[in-house]
Parts: sequence; structure tokens; C-alpha cells
Amino acid sequence: MISAKKVRLGFGGRMVLEGVNMHVPAGGRTALLGKNGCGKSVLLKCFAGLLAGYEGEITIGERDAREAAGTGAARPSMAYVFQKGGLFDSMNVFDNVAFGLRRRGVPEGRVGELVTGALDRVGLAGSEMKLPSELSGGMQKRVGLARAICLDPEIILYDDPTAGLDPILSDSIADLILDISKASSATSIVVTHDLRLVRKVARDVALLYDGRIVFQGGTKGFFSKEDAFARQFIDGEIEGPIDIY
Ligand SMILES: Nc1ncnc2c1ncn2[C@@H]1O[C@H](COP(=O)(O)OP(=O)(O)OP(=O)(O)O)[C@@H](O)[C@H]1O
Ligand SMILES: [Mg+2]
Repeated sequence: MISAKKVRLGFGGRMVLEGVNMHVPAGGRTALLGKNGCGKSVLLKCFAGLLAGYEGEITIGERDAREAAGTGAARPSMAYVFQKGGLFDSMNVFDNVAFGLRRRGVPEGRVGELVTGALDRVGLAGSEMKLPSELSGGMQKRVGLARAICLDPEIILYDDPTAGLDPILSDSIADLILDISKASSATSIVVTHDLRLVRKVARDVALLYDGRIVFQGGTKGFFSKEDAFARQFIDGEIEGPIDIY
């Protein structure tokens, strides 16, 4: 479904991705892990077609990622949950969540139903009229999540969906991601540092290090820690194949 081959991308002469190979099957749920600043968000944006200047090949289904982005089909191919919420400051919560639906020409009555339903699912019913500046960071993230799920996309790319959320809320977001994935057989990639989320949601794990995927395999295998990269990452050890600096 989602496939990257030899993807290379750098900024100002500094390479971030140095030949990423990664595959996520249709209906899959893959956790994308890696140190801060290793390029997870960059890679996710390449999958979403938000960054286009890479070398190599990314395909979404049969299509090139750069073409797959922005298709105006009734069921959008993809939704992206931004690491920082990605909300429009001047729009209230309702309008933020409604944005993609309206752009697709969904009738206003239906927009209302879908927005209300999505806000309810993320625990924000009643916050429709608030502005992003009136929300806590965790609430903003949940609005971003509501905006993605109300589109019923085939693919959802989550950038650190539980960062900054308390453990109870994180757990409910994990349940929600799992629910959505199962109910709509959406394909998901979840960038995260939250190993509880990984255990709960992911079927596969991909570990990005030094511009490459150094581990990709089943979640069970990852947590068995037979792989040296997986072991060091899970235990946060200083010694191992991952250079901590
Ligand atoms: N648009 C950009 N222009 C220049 N450099 C960028 C750009 N986007 C990302 N970078 C750089 O690419 C590297 C990887 O950034 P990225 O945001 O993908 O990290 P990350 O793995 O998501 O980290 P974190 O876990 O902290 O979110 C960083 O060094 C960052 O400064
Ligand atoms: Mg990031």
C-alpha cells in the first residue's frame, strides 16, 4: 500500500534520509520510531506528498506519492495528523474540523453531523466554538485528530499523536486509533516515542536511524529485543549500535 524505495532527502547539503526502504501493507498499522530529529516527520511528510524534493520512489497504492496527494476523490486517499495540531488560529474548533469536509463539497448538514461525531470521539464535544488559543496543547492535538478521522480516509498518517498527553488520555487516543483502523480498514503509520502506544496499536515497527530503516518487522519481534537496535531503543541504553549524540 505504502512503499518507499531508496528515498534520500537532505536540507542545505545535510542529508536526513539516506536511502529509506519501508513497506506498509494495506490495512497495516506501522509505528515509525527513532531518535528526536532523525527524520520521522520528514519521512511522514514525504509519504503525504507534503515534501516532494526527495530522490528515490514512494508509492501509495499504485500511484506516486506526489500525485496521490491532493486527489479530489469522494473518499480522500490520505489524512495527516500534524505533530503540533496544525490548526488555523483564526478558525474555531468546528471550522477547523470542518475544513477538509467543506473543501470536498460535503453538504453543510452532513458536515455538522460528521464534525460533532468526530469531536465526540476525541472527547471534545461542546468545544466547537472555542479558538485554538483557548485550548490546551493536548486539546489542540485532539482537534487535529478529529479533523483527520472525520474524512474517513484510506490512509492516516499520525505524527506523534500522544505527545504531551497524560497517560489516561494517551490510552484513549490509542484505543481510538485502533478503533478507526479496524472499523474502516484504514492503513496507518504512527510516528511516536510512546512505547505503550506501540504495543497497543502497531502491528509492525519501523525504526529509523542514521537516515535508514534499521529495523522493520512485527511488533512482537521488536519487543522481543533480539535485534540490537530494537533492544537499545526500548531500554534507552547508552551502549549499542545507536550513537546517542
Ligand atoms: N523544512 C525543513 N528545512 C530544513 N531542515 C528541516 C526541515 N524539516 C526538517 N528539517 C531537519 O530535518 C531533521 C529531521 O527533522 P524531523 O522533524 O523529521 O525529526 P523527527 O524525527 O520528527 O524529530 P522529533 O522526534 O523531535 O519530532 C532535523 O534536523 C530538522 O532540523
Ligand atoms: Mg517529528
